[in-house]
Amino acid sequence: MCGIVGYIGKREIKSRLIEGLRELEYRGYDSAGIAVMQNGRIDSFKAVGKLSNLEEKTKSFSTDGLGAGIGHTRWATHGKPTELNAHPHMGEYSYVVHNGIIENYREIKQMLQEEGVAFLSQTDTEVIVHLFELEAQRRSDLFDAFKATIEQLDGAYAVLLVTQKAPDTIFFARKGSPMIIGRNDEGELFFASSDAPLIGEAKEVAYMEDGTIGYVTPDTIHAEPENLVFVPLSGDKATAQKGGYRFFMEKEIYEQYDVMSDTMMGRVLDSDIFFEEIGDSFLDGITRIKLCACGTSYHAALASGYLFERLSKIPVNVEIASEFRYKEPLLGSDTLFIVISQSGETADTLEALRMAKEAGLKTLAICNVDNSSIVRLADTTILTRAGIEKGVASTKAFATQVMVLWMLSLYFAKRRGSMDTEAIKEELRFMHYVPKVLQKSLEVHEKCKRLSKRYLHGHGFFFIGRDIFFPLALEGALKLKEISYLHAEGYPAGEMKHGPIALADAELFTIALMPKTLLYDKTKSNVEELSARDSTILSISPEMFDLADDFILTHPHNHPMLEFFEMMVVEQLLAMEIAIRLGNDVDMPRNLAKSVTVE
Ligand code: F6R
Repeated sequence: MCGIVGYIGKREIKSRLIEGLRELEYRGYDSAGIAVMQNGRIDSFKAVGKLSNLEEKTKSFSTDGLGAGIGHTRWATHGKPTELNAHPHMGEYSYVVHNGIIENYREIKQMLQEEGVAFLSQTDTEVIVHLFELEAQRRSDLFDAFKATIEQLDGAYAVLLVTQKAPDTIFFARKGSPMIIGRNDEGELFFASSDAPLIGEAKEVAYMEDGTIGYVTPDTIHAEPENLVFVPLSGDKATAQKGGYRFFMEKEIYEQYDVMSDTMMGRVLDSDIFFEEIGDSFLDGITRIKLCACGTSYHAALASGYLFERLSKIPVNVEIASEFRYKEPLLGSDTLFIVISQSGETADTLEALRMAKEAGLKTLAICNVDNSSIVRLADTTILTRAGIEKGVASTKAFATQVMVLWMLSLYFAKRRGSMDTEAIKEELRFMHYVPKVLQKSLEVHEKCKRLSKRYLHGHGFFFIGRDIFFPLALEGALKLKEISYLHAEGYPAGEMKHGPIALADAELFTIALMPKTLLYDKTKSNVEELSARDSTILSISPEMFDLADDFILTHPHNHPMLEFFEMMVVEQLLAMEIAIRLGNDVDMPRNLAKSVTVE
């Protein structure tokens, strides 16, 4: 997702900014830009795609001596990834970069347009720079103008602004989006939206509190309402990228709270669901859905099958891509063909998509990587906006896939009239609560760590659940086997008695997903059957269960999807802690690749 850097000093400014942005590349982006101020003049450059494109554009530009600059990598949310929408955004004489979202940008934009301001981009960010210049006309002190600007913004932001009217000065503000300022003994100042660009450059850093606003010049750091507190910065670049976590997988589990908000941004509104990716007539004539994917993405598809049929009352069929390819499938043009892929490069999914297109079906991709092969081939794509996922075992990508599919099922429900306005609003209310649930679910991490030592042996794990918790059981088992190399299976709880229960003994570990909001008593009976055969039971539930050998208590919720997301985090943490105890490389498990481009 978006990244910010800033610099004041005497070294070559362009290179400082681009090197800083390179350290943020791992977050994912689709365009980048810089604004460099020297001797009262500002030069700005932007490019779509990789940083190398920006480097190419700025090849013949360099600075000599003191100056300031700001830079940004953008992951498109409002408006497509074009050069005009890339940051920095400019006014008449000022430039701004911004992470986050300005929720009231439409109102501000309208007000500015009435004042005669012309807009170049489709972004929410551009209002900041024009608003600043309007405020600067009204008062002589530029910091007052900046403060008056920031006061009018609702939403989340980390903002850096430079203006020709204040040479060698960077104005900054932060609320809800991270921003760090660093300094060193050479008198250089740095800004960044995470530690990584500061490592090896800054000697000490201040992590800004929400609500901080201020400006820096080569010899002043002014911050309000409180002074910044600088602490020494240590660590190497690799640990900085992991943000202090032991593994990328751990970091990505913890990031789920943040990325889920990005996934919903501009799409989940108070009383509506909106996808700018789906044109008005795109779904005309669609009466059924076929979902196709591999691995974890297939599990997301399976879970959504329940949601589409229950909420949108549309028939759904879910297929494993490698099976679909060779079964000579019957495809009707009233079917919307949805492929789900984190990487967008999975060979089997890509081929399935190709077959659907050749058969004349409308196709929709749900993908995390823009411009990937699947995105380029599908008629339209909903990006999951999880940011780059480095851990081979998928976590946040899965979470965002499920979220997009839940959103899509509501979108269909509205279109098809299968739910009334009030019911949709109620569902949206729960959706808005998901990031909080993901954050709260991390509270059990310590418990997972302690429990993990009891689950390092045995002859196998059965993850069991019913309804949407069955695909979640499949996903829990997949996570565990991928990184611990222990044998694990996911199974529908009600199906155990039709065979697998023969395996039950004290060395068979049953991980029982027992949500309170969905078929609790039914699942409980199935777990009792296993307990009676002496299987060791770990129950994951908001309710204590007498027959469980171990339990992880989840928070009580009023909606199955909230229980789903909480249990998903528990499964991820448990798998990771078991794998760590076994001494495995959690991020790069043996035999696996992040992008499976072979059949
Ligand atoms: C498991 C995992 C894999 C992928 C599968 C499909 O943690 O990541 O099972 O889900 O290889 O990959 P994508 O989603 O990139 O198509």
